[in-house]
Amino acid sequence: MERLDKLIASQGRYSRSEVKKLIKSGRITVDGKVPKSGDIKLDPGKSEIRVDGESLNYKKHIYIMLNKPRGVISASNDRDKETVIDLVPPELFREGLFPAGRLDGDTTGFVLITDDGDFAHRILSPKNHIMKTYHATLRDELTQEDIVRFKEGLTLGDGTECLEAHVKVLESGNKNLAEIKICEGKYHQVKRMFASIGNKVLELRRVKMGGLDLDGSLREGECREITDEELKMITEKNVL
Ligand code: URA
Repeated sequence: MERLDKLIASQGRYSRSEVKKLIKSGRITVDGKVPKSGDIKLDPGKSEIRVDGESLNYKKHIYIMLNKPRGVISASNDRDKETVIDLVPPELFREGLFPAGRLDGDTTGFVLITDDGDFAHRILSPKNHIMKTYHATLRDELTQEDIVRFKEGLTLGDGTECLEAHVKVLESGNKNLAEIKICEGKYHQVKRMFASIGNKVLELRRVKMGGLDLDGSLREGECREITDEELKMITEKNVL
């Protein structure tokens, strides 16, 4: 059970003071009745809240897919630089949003933004084997031995040991493009893994989380809400 005013404000569309005014002017109904004040307690799963007759469509948490451009940082706020949260449009924005896992400033692609800490922890913990798939443009061609070394678990330059990673060559010759799947998220991990075998990542893009591909119709800088079905796809384990 939660306070009506808090519940409405938690959805992000109206500020606390706007909610107060909406309630005062009788524009809110709860199960068809106009509440006298915002401090009544209710269960949002059982009561129907409407604003000007339209359902509030209450959601405890929100999950957003962003196609991150270069130069935008994976933080919730920053004094100088644009952040992934700045790219969330007002209709999806609410307090408490954060990126579930960080991409470097020059990495592009799939960032999941949410206000659900438990979910974020679940998909990021290496224990749960949720693969993150990247496309890496490399300076040098990959060899079969390189791929085996990734599979066996690489040791980074500073001695950090990595779990197995799955690498596939997508293009070679003019451009060396590889797919790499990892279930960890160590600092600069993909770049450091390729550096540890004497190669160099020139460009990096995250294309998939768990079993969910980045929506190809999202242009860089665009976001959209993730559906319930897609959310389940993110939690698929060991997608290779
Ligand atoms: N690995 C990296 O090196 N950078 C990223 O942004 C993500 C994974």
